[in-house]
Amino acid sequence: MPKLLVARAMFPDELVRLNKYFELELNQQDSIFSPEELADRLQGKFGMICTSSAKINQELLAKLPELKIISTIAVGYDNFDLQACSQYRVMATNAPDVLNETTADFAWALMMATARRVTEAEHFLRAGEWKKWGVDFFVGADIFGSRLGILGMGRIGQAIARRAAGFGMEVIYHNRSRLSAEQELVAHHARYVDKETLMRESDHLILALPYSSETHHSIAANELAQMKPSATLINIARGGIVDDVALIAALQNRQIAGAGLDVFENEPRFHPDFLGLKNVVLTPHIASASERTRRAMVNRAITNVIAAVRGEVPPDLLNRDAHTF
Ligand code: DGY
Repeated sequence: MPKLLVARAMFPDELVRLNKYFELELNQQDSIFSPEELADRLQGKFGMICTSSAKINQELLAKLPELKIISTIAVGYDNFDLQACSQYRVMATNAPDVLNETTADFAWALMMATARRVTEAEHFLRAGEWKKWGVDFFVGADIFGSRLGILGMGRIGQAIARRAAGFGMEVIYHNRSRLSAEQELVAHHARYVDKETLMRESDHLILALPYSSETHHSIAANELAQMKPSATLINIARGGIVDDVALIAALQNRQIAGAGLDVFENEPRFHPDFLGLKNVVLTPHIASASERTRRAMVNRAITNVIAAVRGEVPPDLLNRDAHTF
């Protein structure tokens, strides 16, 4: 039987479907493998199901002549060097679509918590500092009737935009390419603008674009300087899209009002200065973390490896030139 590494702990009852096709090596202790350990564990394996924590590059693939497929449960695949995968004829797959709505929900949760200073107010209450009510007590910014900006208008960006209908918001967006008129209509009449207009005019700006060398530091000091002092910035996409040092300076100087961040440069380590800021809401990369969605993500990865072992084209194949069956 071909061998499969499941590189992180994931729902055992979902993994049962794999037993018919693979001899499984599990990691239910959920250790994070070093590159050397990952190479060892992948020796003789047909494939792997992994998360964004597995870095797949040329150096690793050169040691694994039998490997045929790497299947991440994430939609983001910036941890895969796709060119190297194609060079070594290793199929790479991701898990799109199944997390769009859950991730969009969370973008809204962060936006609302940031605009209305929810975690700052809770910390104040928990610290026993609440002695009296005041008229300007934790005043924040309205969501209702404000202008929502979205940078990156893929499936998640569009799901975020649709939710704006219930809040009487205007939606503006910037993306590599403009949506069709029909897509814009469904995305709550989203209006395409250039990036500078997006920065200048958004009351709340949500980042929903993939990370790559082209999108590295898409939001840096220059962009932050263009934003309104009352604006909030929300990142549910990837660390590295924002220059965290520049963002910390902008938050310290009140160049923008606040930020809601689910992702960070170099996570799970993050810049310690974020912890000293009151005008941030910080969460540990959980935007897609509903039980139903995480199970769907795992299942999507399972479907991809089963297709591969059956000699079929995996539905979410990212590098078609690696398909050798
Ligand atoms: C994704 O699917 O890319 C999420 O960020 C989880 O890694």
